[in-house]
Amino acid sequence: MATSRLKVVLDQERSYDIRVGCKLLENLGTHLRELSSAKKAVIITDSNVGSLYLETTKKALVEAEFEVYDLTIPAGEESKNIEVATELWDALAMLNIGRDGLLLALGGGVVGDITGFIAATYMRGIDFVQLPTSLLAMVDSSVGGKTAINISAGKNLVGSFYQPIYVAADLDTLVTLPDAEWDNGFAEIAKSAIIDGGEFYEWVLNNVSSLVAHDDDALKQVIVRALTFKARVVIADEKESGLRECLNYGHTFAHALEQVSGYSISHGKAVAEGMRFAARLAVEVIGSSNDFVKAQDDLFDAIGLSPVAESFSSDELFECMFGDKKVRGGNLRFVFACGPGEWKVEIVDPDLAKIYIILWEQARM
Ligand SMILES: NC(=O)c1ccc[n+]([C@@H]2O[C@H](COP(=O)([O-])OP(=O)(O)OC[C@H]3O[C@@H](n4cnc5c(N)ncnc54)[C@H](O)[C@@H]3O)[C@@H](O)[C@H]2O)c1
Repeated sequence: MATSRLKVVLDQERSYDIRVGCKLLENLGTHLRELSSAKKAVIITDSNVGSLYLETTKKALVEAEFEVYDLTIPAGEESKNIEVATELWDALAMLNIGRDGLLLALGGGVVGDITGFIAATYMRGIDFVQLPTSLLAMVDSSVGGKTAINISAGKNLVGSFYQPIYVAADLDTLVTLPDAEWDNGFAEIAKSAIIDGGEFYEWVLNNVSSLVAHDDDALKQVIVRALTFKARVVIADEKESGLRECLNYGHTFAHALEQVSGYSISHGKAVAEGMRFAARLAVEVIGSSNDFVKAQDDLFDAIGLSPVAESFSSDELFECMFGDKKVRGGNLRFVFACGPGEWKVEIVDPDLAKIYIILWEQARM
């Protein structure tokens, strides 16, 4: 399978390549050497991914004459915190990593986000590379430069925008991705296709069965399409002051649902449910059509993102929604899609949102 290449050009001084294909980890070294003159390279990975792909990645870097170190964090969202960040900063200092060092994030979005945060802050910023191994990280988190850790007040509340120097999505790693993790990637793919509309949306509709069968070629094509879309959005609005907000489609309700469920609902299922919720609210708020609500439901059902069946307290959901960081200046902002490729942000009357949350709760009683 041929490797696909994309380029994110942020401005005259900042651009980076993305590659999507097979055997990219084992062939990493040569290309990295062209990009970086670093002597020391530190791979940050997690306990699951490290046991599968660390050796291959190390070998490739050693062959390219990097002095290679590795740091492994426990797998899971719980690692995206200040204690783990401190351990990583200290470990880099112990290894005498200077400003000319290179970090590599080998793993899913958790490893990508915390490694990006460490790269952004250690010595006021050192180069880093994203080596995403989950579908979600391949289609979303590895590109765009959002780095973060969680604090007790909420997820991703501390971080910065800091871009990688290179992203390599090695499709071979998806073979070991646990079944439960695919929803998260598929929800982001469905979201991107709906927001982008046009050819991307049509392609997903026509290829859903190949995607759920994890067909290699279909996966590669959809990752490239999703990244092309994401890169376009990020180039236009690097720091989320406008267009990039479209990427939050479904997230206002999803974040509340994740919190209220104590994170027992996967992020992918929550985002899909958030898009279902937003589409219904959009019929009332912006007069979009019920046909689109149905088309979107059909797409989510086909891609395996079934509706959330459990009920949660509408009071708690509402409270969480108001605590979300996307509520700016006390306003409840929703990204609405009224059809493929058609979206807008609207401030929603809290009383109206509350009514829809109550309806959502009642439908599950
Ligand atoms: N920066 C951004 O723009 C952005 C966007 C979306 C999400 N995120 C963040 O991404 C995180 C979620 O990312 P995620 O869904 O990849 O979670 P994750 O990094 O926790 O990975 C999910 C699980 O799959 C395992 N795994 C990953 N790749 C594997 C592979 N190839 N084989 C076997 N196991 C593998 C991991 O060890 C982990 O247990 C969240 O913290 C979220 O906030 C960031």
